[in-house]
Amino acid sequence: MNIKDEIKQWKEKKDAVILAHYYVEPEIQEIADHVGDSFALSKIAANLPNPVIVYCGVSFMGESGVLLSPEKKVLMPDAKADCPMAHMVTKAEVDEARAKYDDLAVVCYINSTAEIKSWSDVSVTSANAVQIVKNLPNKNILFIPDKNLGRFVAAQVPEKNVILVNGYCPIHEVISPAEMAELKAAHPDAEILVHPECNAEVTAMADYVGSTTGIINYAAKSDKKELIIGTEVGVLYELEKQNPDKTFYFPRTTPICHDMKLITLEKVLHVLKTEENHASVLAEQAKAAGNTLTRMLELAK
Ligand code: 13P
Ligand code: SF4
Repeated sequence: MNIKDEIKQWKEKKDAVILAHYYVEPEIQEIADHVGDSFALSKIAANLPNPVIVYCGVSFMGESGVLLSPEKKVLMPDAKADCPMAHMVTKAEVDEARAKYDDLAVVCYINSTAEIKSWSDVSVTSANAVQIVKNLPNKNILFIPDKNLGRFVAAQVPEKNVILVNGYCPIHEVISPAEMAELKAAHPDAEILVHPECNAEVTAMADYVGSTTGIINYAAKSDKKELIIGTEVGVLYELEKQNPDKTFYFPRTTPICHDMKLITLEKVLHVLKTEENHASVLAEQAKAAGNTLTRMLELAK
């Protein structure tokens, strides 16, 4: 039996569901029951009937699965797959802002640890950050940890005072404006679609800035046949699947999230069989962090 059939068999045996982010390898996206961006996956994770979730992504995603469905077993194919940005803010930075502003709302990107979520008032993803920040009653917003998404949100919501910290996604932050300009020079008719985790120079060049799903939807609707993409290259699998008639160009220095690429078919099969690598959240953080995420799902409705 080949490994994909074996995974299917074990999945049925355990009544498990496989969730995968668009940045994991194509063969993992192929076997997943649901593939999505962080927002879509968190909504799905909150409403699954299955007792076991195999979360093909990085650790904050597994923690979010546990927070939204505490009664389920959330299995991580590789326990080491982590998002460096998810740790890039300290409690001292949050405390300092809380001491300074009476009406402060602490808004944390979903790409953050459960501990950071437990310090925060509401979570957001790149798909709903602007909408949620706009609708908060607070004038002063501490946006953690991604300075790039925070800057993008601040520009869309000028009526708020958005305070940033120095976190960033190491993959998107280094997408080079010069390499994007090279692509545009070679394909002048192409539109540029980028993720808000990119640096300011890159987002300034873009025709569209949005979440992974936003980029996929925009590309499908665009009447252009050539598109330049500024995000993690895993998204190419879905872009090509949906648009066989279009050509997608990525920067010469390919944006690859090596943590997402740690997920393999062998590791998916292993955790299905053994139920090793449970995602977990410390009991003292679970309530506050869970509220932060649930508030996101309510405010994004
Ligand atoms: P989205 O899934 O919200 O587009 O975020 C991208 C990302 O970097 C996930 O780690
Ligand atoms: Fe984190 Fe960036 Fe990888 Fe997403 S792409 S998991 S933000 S390092």
